[in-house]
Amino acid sequence: MELGERSYKITIGCGLLRRASDFFRLERAALVVTDDNIPQIYAESVASCAKRREIYKIPEGEGSKSIDTLSALLGKMAEMKLTRSDCVIAVGGGVVGDLTGLAASLYMRGIDFYNVPTSLLAMVDSSIGGKTAINHAGIKNIVGAFYQPRGVLIDTDVLATLPERHIAAGLCEAIKMAATSDEELFRYIEGADTAQILSSTEDMIARALNIKKRVVEQDERESGLRKILNFGHTLGHGIEASSGEGVLYHGECVALGMLPMCSPKARERLISTLKRHRLPTEYHGDIAAAIALTMHDKKANAGGIDIITVDCIGKCDIRTVSADEFAGICLGYYGK
Ligand code: GLY
Repeated sequence: MELGERSYKITIGCGLLRRASDFFRLERAALVVTDDNIPQIYAESVASCAKRREIYKIPEGEGSKSIDTLSALLGKMAEMKLTRSDCVIAVGGGVVGDLTGLAASLYMRGIDFYNVPTSLLAMVDSSIGGKTAINHAGIKNIVGAFYQPRGVLIDTDVLATLPERHIAAGLCEAIKMAATSDEELFRYIEGADTAQILSSTEDMIARALNIKKRVVEQDERESGLRKILNFGHTLGHGIEASSGEGVLYHGECVALGMLPMCSPKARERLISTLKRHRLPTEYHGDIAAAIALTMHDKKANAGGIDIITVDCIGKCDIRTVSADEFAGICLGYYGK
């Protein structure tokens, strides 16, 4: 990732966890943050490379993106007597990465942060780009910082322990990027089954990350272009919030959030690709409630709601619409 003095290396491969010190500066103290559902061996392998280390486990799930868990993590960093020249390492999915990155940005006004994503979703999207956040006052990602990691290590071996549904949900973020920006990658995902993609995951992850890298390098703080990475997320967040924690995975909500934002021709290809990878294409929940929660999620944006639309796979537009227009587009598609 080329961002001047905030540039960092993203390494993708197999068997990398035990070699973390080849990629990160670990001749110092490191607090490795993971969650209680990730095989402990992953955090242990990374931690074993650091000179002085501890492992800190948070509960699995979106509930850990909270002020209480953030406070406890900062307390742990202080208890470990980390100094500004030490580091924290996230070994986990998007929740672990978002929380740990935010804690790193705050502790002593910023210490080094490394990210080792263990979910496909984090590998193809959230582990790079520097967005860190917790949820607060019922609003997703409302407290956060742009804080780039110092390095990202993607070890595809860890995908072997990831359930199929999690793989599909992660793949959806790659489908999102391909739909807005890379017709060739879309064609590949559209034409391959999930097993085929898994047999060459490194290539697929690299292609998705290259899209994100290009976007973030041009618009690190999301003043314009970076908004395209939110394709499907506006309604998706509302569906996620209204369905209740853990009922639908984030990637599944993004799948449902993308559909109303496409032209009929683009949607046809998107639906067949989502179906191929066992991602949902129909929503049976309360769409009006999801739309209402989207408004709540976006209430900070008085000028309207930014939506990303895809008329032709591989290309997209950013439009600002009123709350009523947004509701009309979503209701128009889901028909309730
Ligand atoms: N996941 C969207 C972004 O990083 O901007």
